[in-house]
Amino acid sequence: MPSNDLLQTIAADRSHVWHHLTQHKPFESQDPRLYVEGRGMRLWDAVGREYLDAVSGGVWTVNVGYGRTSIADAVREQLVRMNYFSGAAGSVPGARFAGRLIDKMPGLSRVYYANSGSEANEKAFKIVRQIAHRHHGGRKYKILYRERDYHGTTISALSASGQPERSAQYGPLTPGFVQVPHCLQYRSQYGAIANYGERVADAIEEVILREGPDTVGAICLEPVTAGGGVITPPKGYWDRVQEICRRYNILLHIDEVVCGVGRTGKWFGYQHFGIKPDFVTMAKGVASGYAAISCLVTTEAIFDQFKDDASDPLSHFRDISTFGGCTSGPAAALENMRIIEDERLLENTTVMGARLLRNLTELQLHYPVIGDVRGLGLFCGAELVKDRQTREPADERQVQAVIADCLSRGVIIGATNRSIPGLNNTLCLSPALIATSDDIDQITITIGAALEKVFGKK
Ligand SMILES: Cc1ncc(COP(=O)(O)O)c(C=O)c1O
Repeated sequence: MPSNDLLQTIAADRSHVWHHLTQHKPFESQDPRLYVEGRGMRLWDAVGREYLDAVSGGVWTVNVGYGRTSIADAVREQLVRMNYFSGAAGSVPGARFAGRLIDKMPGLSRVYYANSGSEANEKAFKIVRQIAHRHHGGRKYKILYRERDYHGTTISALSASGQPERSAQYGPLTPGFVQVPHCLQYRSQYGAIANYGERVADAIEEVILREGPDTVGAICLEPVTAGGGVITPPKGYWDRVQEICRRYNILLHIDEVVCGVGRTGKWFGYQHFGIKPDFVTMAKGVASGYAAISCLVTTEAIFDQFKDDASDPLSHFRDISTFGGCTSGPAAALENMRIIEDERLLENTTVMGARLLRNLTELQLHYPVIGDVRGLGLFCGAELVKDRQTREPADERQVQAVIADCLSRGVIIGATNRSIPGLNNTLCLSPALIATSDDIDQITITIGAALEKVFGKK
């Protein structure tokens, strides 16, 4: 792009675009960053600087990397043939992608299309509520969510999110959502106990008994908590959670918006833990950001409850998603899935994820500021602390300074951001599933240099 045009573009951004999750005051004296090109793991900004992207588009999305012409071609071909009809009708890519997805999700059989993670989660909440009204006299309407988990930005998805800095000032929130304790062993609520996983799952049962089991319809959980601090579940947790759900007839909703479609080295995060979900929602990596698509996937048993009385005009799922009918989403998702299979990216994610975790653990030996390292696949976090003994969280400004320093060295990393008060102290890494050993090493070497710069010598 000619430099004149670029200057005008940056000026237009500064004057007219409202960026997400951003305080705009600094843009009164400096330009916002604008990325103009991407290829593989790398990005270039408007002034031609190159970056290695260790966060897949900022929010764990571009799983197959930038510049995939085959996805662009598939989308173009589909758009010129048939771009849209509402979800009341089917589409060729919609039907095909649903079939391909269900092949990878034994026990599940129905796919409902929408276009954001928040929206997919809202669909599940509405289904739970409608089942409560139709089959439980309106009583089993409550939905449990976990402290530190995030399920989206709309008011009800925020009501189901355990991140107070996200929901602050947006109340009143939607009633009927009830919090259960987080499962981050590093910040155990019970001290150093051996059976932490079972104990903290039992805390869910305590909430159910307090609320009344006949009022609780579902629980919504991330398989590995993402923006709340990259929290991998403790041993014994998921077996006990499932036991409790069965005992009280509570539907299990797994939010795979981040973990889904390869991020953890399996197609879905829940598949590491022997979970049998009633709902799975997914979005970001489904089409790696080449088109907007999200899916709610559920069982035939749930689906059947919405067709059991065809004479009742209110008995079916009366939901609509205008852009759930866009064919670009499933067209991109089909090609995205082909790439993951043909390039063996699940295998690469497992191998490179292990390398990333190992590198971070090695950094921890040299930098006392790294209190804890966690992760699964290419989805890792390093929690920064002032003191290893007390585990007092590092100052958020210093955590942000580490990110800024990495950026100045050409590597884009992230951190928990405006989520848990006082605990926005975990560096987050989610490189694309195509990452090589050199990419992984460049990321961790850069983090080491940034830690040294911000926190001083090893
Ligand atoms: C676990 C999880 N669920 C849901 C969402 C919401 O997705 P979206 O921003 O597409 O609405 C996010 C977004 O970051 C997320 O991390």
